[in-house]
Amino acid sequence: MIPLAVPDLTGNEGCYLQECIDSTFVSSVGPFVGRFETAVAQAAGAPHAVATASGTAGLHVALTALGVGRDDLVILPSLTFIASANAIAYCGATPWLLDVAAESWTLDADLLERVLQDQTIRQGEHLVHRESGRRLAAILPVYTLGLPAHMERIVAIARAYRLPVVADAAAALGSTAQGRAVADLGADLTVFSFNGNKTVTAGGGGAVVGTDAELMQLVRHLTTTARQGDNYDHDRIGFNYRLTNIQAAVGCAQLERLHAFVEAKRRIHARYAVAFQASPRLQPFPAPAGFASACWLSGTVVTGLEPAEMATLLDGLRQEGVGARSFWKPIHLQAPYRQAPRTAQPVSESLWFRIVTLPCSTGLTEHEQDSVIAAVKKRLADF
Ligand SMILES: Cc1ncc(COP(=O)(O)O)c(C=O)c1O
Repeated sequence: MIPLAVPDLTGNEGCYLQECIDSTFVSSVGPFVGRFETAVAQAAGAPHAVATASGTAGLHVALTALGVGRDDLVILPSLTFIASANAIAYCGATPWLLDVAAESWTLDADLLERVLQDQTIRQGEHLVHRESGRRLAAILPVYTLGLPAHMERIVAIARAYRLPVVADAAAALGSTAQGRAVADLGADLTVFSFNGNKTVTAGGGGAVVGTDAELMQLVRHLTTTARQGDNYDHDRIGFNYRLTNIQAAVGCAQLERLHAFVEAKRRIHARYAVAFQASPRLQPFPAPAGFASACWLSGTVVTGLEPAEMATLLDGLRQEGVGARSFWKPIHLQAPYRQAPRTAQPVSESLWFRIVTLPCSTGLTEHEQDSVIAAVKKRLADF
C-alpha cells in the first residue's frame, strides 16, 4: 500500500530526542520548546509564537484570549475539519457556518459581507445575530489544505465590523499570499497544527502565532493554567495546553527541513494536476493566482459521480494499493452541529464527497506517484 501521508523522520529527530532523555527534560519545561517557538514564529512570519499541546488546543486558547465565551457565535466555513468547530464549542460558543468559495474552498468573503450586512445588528459594543439574539464574537477562516483564505478582504470586513479574526492555518506553514508569509495576513492570531499527518509534525502539537505582544502573553498565560509565579496562584481558569520538550524536539528537527518538505509537497501537487488535466472527469485542487499553498494534501476532484459511486472508487483504489481517502465532511452535516446556524451550502455540499486525497508523503517517489495516477485512471474507467 502506498500510504496517504507518512512523516519523514530521518533528520535530527532521533538525536534531539536522545538529548531530551539524557538531560531528563521531557516535560513542557525544556530548551526545545523555546527553540520550537522561535522557529515557528520565523517560518510563519510573525514575532511571537506559543507552542500548544495540539492545534485544537491552540484554536481554543486563541478564541478564549480574544474574548469568545458562553453563548457567542463565531463565523466558520462549514468545509473544515471538525476540530475548528469543536474549539468554538469548547468556549461555550456556537459556530455560524458559512459556505466556501468554489475557486478556493475557503471562506467566501462576498457571502461573509452579505450575512454581516443582512443578518447582524450593532447593539452598543456588540454585534448581534438578529435571528438568535446572540453576540457574534469572531471570524475563523480556515486555510484549506494549506491555501490561505482571501485575507485582504476578510480582514477589511472584520475591521469594519470590529470583529477579531483567528486563522485556522493548521496545515499552512510555508504558504504565502501575495508574497506575504502565512501569519502576516492580518489575522489577530494564526494557529498551526503539528499532528502526525501534517507536513511538519511534532508527533502532536500546535502553535499560536501573532504580532501583539500583550495578546500573545495572554495566550501563553492561558496555556499554563493561568499560573502567576511559583506559588500556586492562578488568576483565572486556564488550561494545561503546553507542548512537551519531547514533542518540541521532533518539531525542531522537522522545521529544519520545512522548505524541502514544502517543495516536495508542491511538486507532488503539480504532477497530479498535469497527469489528470487531460481527463474531463478530474479537476485539480484549487490554486488561485497570487497564493502559494504549502499543498498539505494533494489529489483530485471527480465530476459526475454520486456519493455511493465515490465510495466504490475509493475502495477500488485501496484494492490497487493506493492509500486514497475522502476529505472533510462539512460541519453542518455532523451530528453535534446540525442545529448550528448556517447559510445555504451549495458549494460545500456539491464538493466534499467528490474530493479524493491521494498519496503525497514528502518521500513519495515519481515511480510511486505514477502507479497512483495509473490506478486512478484505471478505476475511473469503471464508471
Ligand atoms: C483545519 C484543521 N483545524 C484544526 C486541526 C486540529 O489540529 P490538531 O489535530 O493538532 O488538534 C486540524 C488537523 O488535524 C485541521 O486540519
